Amino acid sequence: MDTFSGKTAVITGAASGIGFAMAERFASEGMRVVLADIEEAALDSAVERIVATGAEAIGVVTDVAKADDVAALAERARTEFGGIHVACNNAGVFAGGLLWEESLADYQWLMDVNVWGVIHGIRTFIPIMLEQDTECHLVNTASMAGLTAMPFAGIYHMTKHAVLGLSESLFHELAVSSDKVKVSVLCPEVIKTGIANCDRNRPAEYSKEGDVVETDARQLVMDSMNEALEGGIDPSVMADRVVNAIRSDTFYILAEDGWRDTAYQRMDDIREGRNPVLAPPV
Ligand SMILES: NC(=O)c1ccc[n+]([C@@H]2O[C@H](COP(=O)([O-])OP(=O)(O)OC[C@H]3O[C@@H](n4cnc5c(N)ncnc54)[C@H](O)[C@@H]3O)[C@@H](O)[C@H]2O)c1
Repeated sequence: MDTFSGKTAVITGAASGIGFAMAERFASEGMRVVLADIEEAALDSAVERIVATGAEAIGVVTDVAKADDVAALAERARTEFGGIHVACNNAGVFAGGLLWEESLADYQWLMDVNVWGVIHGIRTFIPIMLEQDTECHLVNTASMAGLTAMPFAGIYHMTKHAVLGLSESLFHELAVSSDKVKVSVLCPEVIKTGIANCDRNRPAEYSKEGDVVETDARQLVMDSMNEALEGGIDPSVMADRVVNAIRSDTFYILAEDGWRDTAYQRMDDIREGRNPVLAPPV
């Protein structure tokens, strides 16, 4: 897709971080933007900031874990702006700890938002795009965690591997189904966002008493995440990469730092039949 102006973008998880940066960037390209998020107050102020630039934007409170919410989001976008040309399945959450200590609520929450959120997005937006039969692009936010597997963040890695696999299969399916509907997968490295504080929006249904346990490992991971994110890359860099990838029809939107070496190390281990070597990104 070469031209963005006058077209419509829908972004989930758009009240903060990478989602907001993408919404801001699409708006600056002349797109109408539909921001979706579970956090209503943050969503309202995100929409206000974009509207203040003179762009057309609306906010739709959406829980991406719920298929009906994502369907209603798409309906609002079509009713208000007449179509959907770019859709970003971006909302995501994180939990850390040892896999055998983490709660069922953690497993369910990350699966529901990070994986089912993307599934609902694919099942909702792709049929609309195919029916429109105009140039369209879907962007799924995975992570470099989808190409690597570190300790203490196993649930997150699992969900991001799922997003990567889903996206690759979708790429092949679209290649034989349409010459107008494309997909990319965004795999950020460490970005300065609010994800280490994602518990701020954790719905009560995932916080069953006695299940979410504050283990030492969990605390350690969340503390080091906070520290790492402080020195992370500005989210606007991800927005630039996404716009460039849509323009050039590039599928893999990968990190440009040591995370790539960590991913290559894993692939080499698989190719050579070695046990996994722990190679944190440097
Ligand atoms: N920050 C990083 O270092 C990093 C690295 C790789 C991948 N990512 C991915 O980037 C995406 C965006 O995260 P971010 O880092 O900008 O974090 P963020 O916390 O700043 O933004 C995430 C947004 O998603 C929203 N959200 C959470 N649950 C939701 C739900 N059920 N339905 C709708 N919205 C929901 C939050 O309210 C928040 O506004 C996520 O998929 C994350 O996994 C982030």
